[in-house]
Amino acid sequence: MNQLATFVLNNKEFDKIRQLIHKKAGISMSDAKRSLVAGRLRKRLVALKLDSYEAYYQFLKKDEQAGTGELQRFIDLLTTNETWFFREEKHFEFLKQQLKDRPIAKEINIWSAASSSGEEPYSIAMTMAESMGMTSPWKVLGTDISTEILAKAKKGLYVKDKIKGLSNTLKRKYMLNGVRDYADYLAIVPELKSKMNFQHFNLQSSPLPGIKFDFIFCRNVLIYFNQEDKKKVIHRLAGCLKTGGYFFPGHSESLHGLYDELTTVAPSVYQKR
Ligand SMILES: C[S@@+](CC[C@H](N)C(=O)[O-])C[C@H]1O[C@@H](n2cnc3c(N)ncnc32)[C@H](O)[C@@H]1O
Repeated sequence: MNQLATFVLNNKEFDKIRQLIHKKAGISMSDAKRSLVAGRLRKRLVALKLDSYEAYYQFLKKDEQAGTGELQRFIDLLTTNETWFFREEKHFEFLKQQLKDRPIAKEINIWSAASSSGEEPYSIAMTMAESMGMTSPWKVLGTDISTEILAKAKKGLYVKDKIKGLSNTLKRKYMLNGVRDYADYLAIVPELKSKMNFQHFNLQSSPLPGIKFDFIFCRNVLIYFNQEDKKKVIHRLAGCLKTGGYFFPGHSESLHGLYDELTTVAPSVYQKR
């Protein structure tokens, strides 16, 4: 199979593939996503020398038992990882306000539950460091279903010209200039990285972390779930929130009617009663 080979994703194949991504990641795909799915998976057909999406689907089904890693690659390809530093800035301003009266010695745990390449959890960590200092016992957990994107988050290396949303002051304080092969990159300082923990986590099904959080960010991922799956995820995550803790969905993601114990306290900010 050469790079120029053309493949057509027919209705039946698309249905099988979208059922599989729903089963594995909870992601619901509308009919409008067909060409996006075909485009993203095409390179796997070429790499595996397969001649149709049906053959790729069968390969994935076998992988459920064989565990060659293709299912994870499939999930990595079908997730959308767009993110940037201090995206939806109002949440970070809200977090800062909440930290004002907290004793420096008190432990604070924050979870970025769809952390993508790390810009969100590192923005949280910078906000924490600015308000509480580095020695205060706060910790940020970053989790995502995509292992590929999680590896990027763990590295904390960002191409200088592509960094969006980060002020020069914060860059100077929390990032280092790369050298030699990394001259085009900025790297998160080790001190800030030491406050972070990155783990693979499927919002729909992974065992929950064994601790309760003061703040949970779960932004710009609920839009990919149907109402029932969204509800399930909110219940799971809210169960990990301390009473009085805050939950941040994305600004276009309303939790209205999904969980009674979460009440709105500001636009897109919910508190657990
Ligand atoms: C658009 S990004 C949002 C990143 C960040 N929260 C933000 O708002 O900028 C969505 C992220 O959700 C992750 N994701 C999708 N389905 C998931 C699931 N079932 N469990 C955990 N993460 C998931 C994707 O891998 C992706 O990195």
